Amino acid sequence: MTYEIKDAESGTTYIGRDDESIFGAMHKSGRSIFKGGCEGGGCGICKVKILEGEYVTFKIMSRRHVTEEEESQGIVLACCVKPSSNILLEKA
Ligand code: FES
Repeated sequence: MTYEIKDAESGTTYIGRDDESIFGAMHKSGRSIFKGGCEGGGCGICKVKILEGEYVTFKIMSRRHVTEEEESQGIVLACCVKPSSNILLEKA
């Protein structure tokens, strides 16, 4: 299943699959808002706030980068979550 992932700031859209991370979908487009990154939940470069949409967390996010409080507000590491609906996000 594919979903649209949209960056609220630039309006850029990406096509993401439910079996790949949001970071991965953005990266493969060649137009990602992130330059590089570990893709493993450790560096924190891909921190975003999910403004709209549903997602599944499939990797552990370092608490150095995302606190429990932030996570409860929809702030996540894009390499650790997969879309399960269309997504609207912004860099956090
Ligand atoms: S790319 Fe490093 S934490 Fe996501």
